Amino acid sequence: MVSYKELGLVNSIDIFKKAMAGHYAIPAYNFNNMEQLQAIIQACVETKSPVILQVSNGARNYANKYLLRNMARGAVEYAHELGCDIPIVLHLDHGSSYEMCVDCIENGFSSVMIDGSALPYDENVALTKKVCEYAHSRKDYVTVEGELGVLAGVEDEVSAEASHYTKPEEVQDFVKKTGVDSLAISIGTSHGRCKFTPEQCTRTPDGVLIPPPLAFDILEEIEKKLPGFPIVLHGSSSVPIKYVREIEKFGGKIPDSVGIPEDQLRKAAKSAVCKINIDSDGRLAMTAAIRRVLAENPGEFDPRKYLGPARDELKNMYAEKNKNVLGSAGHALD
Ligand code: G3H
Ligand code: 13P
Ligand code: ZN
Repeated sequence: MVSYKELGLVNSIDIFKKAMAGHYAIPAYNFNNMEQLQAIIQACVETKSPVILQVSNGARNYANKYLLRNMARGAVEYAHELGCDIPIVLHLDHGSSYEMCVDCIENGFSSVMIDGSALPYDENVALTKKVCEYAHSRKDYVTVEGELGVLAGVEDEVSAEASHYTKPEEVQDFVKKTGVDSLAISIGTSHGRCKFTPEQCTRTPDGVLIPPPLAFDILEEIEKKLPGFPIVLHGSSSVPIKYVREIEKFGGKIPDSVGIPEDQLRKAAKSAVCKINIDSDGRLAMTAAIRRVLAENPGEFDPRKYLGPARDELKNMYAEKNKNVLGSAGHALD
């Protein structure tokens, strides 16, 4: 058993308190490999931002839990070497069972999500409460994120056909009964690169899809019911058109891609939303750079020659997000 404190990690309590008071959101970036982790740490040190390193079950299967734990330890030392001891959380993204959460907590995670959002309400409450009881009873308190409402979208291990907005009338009861430290809600975001159907969007003359706005009225109602309580937004990639176009220019096929506009995320970050989850944008940025390098250099076969530029692209994108979207830049040492 390894505690996150031995790895130099923190849980999310303090950083959420500061994010709430400072009207910004903490970036929660998913990673599966070394280049993604390097990009996240470089960007967050450069912009002096706290960060949540997110690991899905898919990532655990891909990278191995012991390697992941040591990568997180390495990330703490790497940030130190780069010159800023930013707060780093290691968080399980979309934990699907009590056992998975326990396994992560015993392997150095400082925070877990138990995603019971697809279960009937009472079962979601019971499962989330059970995870909280275990996580909170640890000598080093591990924070727990629960979820109410369902996000649409399909990825490797997260899928739902239709979204159901969070019901504001349920949130107080859920938080009280479960003891969760933060709550993920559904207000119109969704997972993956196609967050809305083309029919739900309008189109600019040059073919860019403009999505409908998020349900800020529901967010406001939730804030009123849970004053000062940290809210989480999943499915918050913006799906930048420049990456979509670059991927398609160099042979990819990713039709109907559309994300959450940055101004909407900025607005959310100023509210009780303290954590914003971004994965798909990282996939798009890396894929665009790799496709470009390989198309322009057909003889290249050294992975460092295409993963290196992909890492740089990723780092720049994360730094821009911290500065201009989440507003977390400059808050690492608050
Ligand atoms: O919300 C889910 C994340 O984007 C993780 O996706 O299960 O494909 O690793 P994944
Ligand atoms: P995106 O697919 O919008 O990046 O969402 C990621 C996410 O919610 C991870 O939990
Ligand atoms: Zn998610």
